[in-house]
Amino acid sequence: MAAQTALITGASSGIGEIYADRLAKRGYDLVLVGRNAEKLQQLATSLASSHGIKVERIVADLGEPAGLARVERRLEADPAITLLVNSAGLIGGGPLSAGNLDELSSMLNINVVALTRLAAVAAKVFAARGNGAIVNLASAMAFIDTPAAAAYAASKAYVLNLSLSLDLDVKPQGVQVQAVLPGYTRTPMISGGAGLPAEIVMDADAMVDAALAGFDAGELVTIPSLEAVAAYDDWAERRVALRPHLSLSKPASRYAAA
Ligand SMILES: NC(=O)c1ccc[n+]([C@@H]2O[C@H](COP(=O)([O-])OP(=O)(O)OC[C@H]3O[C@@H](n4cnc5c(N)ncnc54)[C@H](OP(=O)(O)O)[C@@H]3O)[C@@H](O)[C@H]2O)c1
Repeated sequence: MAAQTALITGASSGIGEIYADRLAKRGYDLVLVGRNAEKLQQLATSLASSHGIKVERIVADLGEPAGLARVERRLEADPAITLLVNSAGLIGGGPLSAGNLDELSSMLNINVVALTRLAAVAAKVFAARGNGAIVNLASAMAFIDTPAAAAYAASKAYVLNLSLSLDLDVKPQGVQVQAVLPGYTRTPMISGGAGLPAEIVMDADAMVDAALAGFDAGELVTIPSLEAVAAYDDWAERRVALRPHLSLSKPASRYAAA
C-alpha cells in the first residue's frame, strides 16, 4: 500500500507534536503546520531520520487568510493526505466582561474559523475519494461553564458539535471523524500544568496515545480521562432524545399566556 500522509496543524508544540511522533511511528509521511519555522524544521529533520519517512513543513499563520489558504490548497491538492489532525489552538481573551475583543477574535480565528475551513476542505476531498479521517482537538471544556475562559470553552463546544454533524455528513461516504476532548494536558498551553493539582493533569504522551486508541476503535468522541464511558453515552442519548421536542408549531404549555 502507498504511504499515507497526515497533515497536522499545531505540530510545533504540545499535543500536535506528540501526534507527529506517533503518526511517524505508524509510518505516515507528514505535513507539519505552524508558525514556528525553526521548531518545525527540527522536528521534521528528527522524525524523517528516525522513522525513514517524508516530512514537510508549512510555515503559516492560520489566523491570516493567506497562510490558511496555503494549507487549504495543500490539503485539497495532495491525494496522499488521508488524515487531518486539527490540533492548532489557543486559549485567551479571559472573561467576556474584560472586553478583550482583539484577543477573542484571534482565538476564534484559530479555534473555530481555521479548524472549520480545514475540516471542510478535508471533508470534501476525502469524501470524493471515499476514505480519510479528520481528528479535531476539542476539549473537556466543551462541557464546562467557565467565566474565566467563556469563549475558549464555547469554541471547544463548537468543535464537538461540528464534529458530531460532520460525522453524519461524511461517515456514509467512508470518512472517519473523531473529536478528542482532553482535560488539562501537560503542554506549553497551560504552562506544563504549573499550579494545578497533579491528579487533574495528564501527560501529553498518555493523552495522545489514548486518543489514538480511541481513533483505532472508531470512536466519534474520545474523552481520554473518562473511565465511565456510559456517562458520555448517556449524555449523547439524552441529547438525541430531545430532538423531536425542539421544533414544534406551538409553545410549551408553561409559556401559555396567563
Ligand atoms: N493543553 C491542554 O490542557 C489542552 C486541553 C484540552 C484541549 N487542548 C487543545 O489541544 C490543542 C493543542 O493544544 P496544546 O496544548 O498542544 O497547545 P500548545 O502546546 O500551545 O500548541 C498550540 C499549537 O497551535 C499552534 N498555533 C497557535 N496559533 C497559531 C496560529 N495563529 N497559526 C498556526 N498555528 C498556531 C502553535 O504553533 P505555532 O506557535 O508554531 O504557530 C502550536 O503548535 C488545542 O486546540 C487546545 O485547545 C489542550
